[in-house]
Amino acid sequence: MAEVTRRIGLSLGADICWPACFEHMLRELDLKIPVDGDTVRFECERVTIEPFDLQQPCKYDVVIDRLTHWYHTSREWIKKSIIMDDLYVFNNPWSVQSNEKHTSYCAMMHLGMPIPTTWMIPPRSYEKELPDVKVTLNKYARLFDLGKLGDKVGWPLYLKPYDGGGWRAVTRVSDVKAAWKAYDDSGKAVMHAQASVEGFDRFVRCIGFGPQTKCVLYDPSAPLHDRYTLQTNFISDADAEHLRKVTVTINAFFGWDFNSCEALRKPSAGGAGGVWHPIDFANPCPDSQVTSLHGHFPWLVKAYLRWALFCAATKRKMRRTLDWQPFYDVAALDLSYEEKLDRYAAIADERMGRAQFEEFCARHLSHLDDVAFAFFGTQEAKDAVRQKTAALFPAHEVEKFTELFWQRIQAWRAAGVP
Ligand SMILES: Nc1ncnc2c1ncn2[C@@H]1O[C@H](COP(=O)(O)OP(=O)(O)OP(=O)(O)O)[C@@H](O)[C@H]1O
Ligand SMILES: [Mg+2]
Repeated sequence: MAEVTRRIGLSLGADICWPACFEHMLRELDLKIPVDGDTVRFECERVTIEPFDLQQPCKYDVVIDRLTHWYHTSREWIKKSIIMDDLYVFNNPWSVQSNEKHTSYCAMMHLGMPIPTTWMIPPRSYEKELPDVKVTLNKYARLFDLGKLGDKVGWPLYLKPYDGGGWRAVTRVSDVKAAWKAYDDSGKAVMHAQASVEGFDRFVRCIGFGPQTKCVLYDPSAPLHDRYTLQTNFISDADAEHLRKVTVTINAFFGWDFNSCEALRKPSAGGAGGVWHPIDFANPCPDSQVTSLHGHFPWLVKAYLRWALFCAATKRKMRRTLDWQPFYDVAALDLSYEEKLDRYAAIADERMGRAQFEEFCARHLSHLDDVAFAFFGTQEAKDAVRQKTAALFPAHEVEKFTELFWQRIQAWRAAGVP
């Protein structure tokens, strides 16, 4: 019986708070897990950025990556390590790179999800120096009438980039004049015109992390630190289960270990329940900052730990290709959307190893809640909160907001709910 060490790499950019908490709690957990006759221990380290030989070995078993969507060197190092060294990474970098919001809409429309009607519009302007732009557009671009397009989509509608993120260039427009103004302002962005889900009574962000999900009532009109609300009991268990299935389906389809899915519920005419419309679910590097998540932050750090430890301990195999066919096979069946969703989610649960994961957590991580409870009462935890707050807030607000986020975490501890 040998003692073996599994190495978890953290590929980070501006993240401050969750990695510090992750590292502390990993030490506190002090794991020695029996796997196939060996005793498995864990180490965690921050991945550095430097030149690399394409044939150099990778020392990590699992990498949690927060850079792939914008930092090419790290993304390409990750790709090489998956191909050459059998690395497991959150998330599949090829999928993050190529599947924009647009593809996610198409794919989930195909699976039958009630995504609002969405059109793509060619950009308002182009890089002038591109040699073939003029001839291409002169030959093939057709003039279009934004007003008529808006009538087809229905007013009001949202104009937003096809590869959106961070609310960049998102405009709600109610008439032709406002639509032209937003389009004129959109520059070189390739835009979507999407029907607005009007009169929704719930706006939920469902965070997915492997098989783990958490629904949070979201208030888009609040300032950033209040958008993830602290409300509880805002949806039924059946609605939460529905959103779990939607989220794991999306994540398994695209090979995203972590992502968040925004959905709006349009109430049904009779009053009870309604239809959930997913509107934004290509966020495969979801907000993980205490300054946004505050009272939900401990859940997120635990979710990072559980999934990373499970993947590292079991040497989970990276799915290098996505394999959409099983989802397409279900989509082609003569079943209702809810029946199909059950089957999609079953594929997702299977791919994510949900049953094995839950057994692993019950057997080896039963002390995680106690470790989290104790850790989030310590000075180290408060320092992590302060450091992130100091990085984002003006100096005169740092103390006030550190206290606010800290008190919300203490309220989570007092409530005693994992
Ligand atoms: N079809 C829609 N119906 C109703 N509201 C919408 C719709 N599309 C967008 N919105 C509103 O605009 C906001 C931003 O849109 P969206 O989430 O698509 O953009 P994003 O840039 O991807 O945002 P994020 O920062 O959440 O990634 C949403 O949170 C929601 O409040
Ligand atoms: Mg959004």
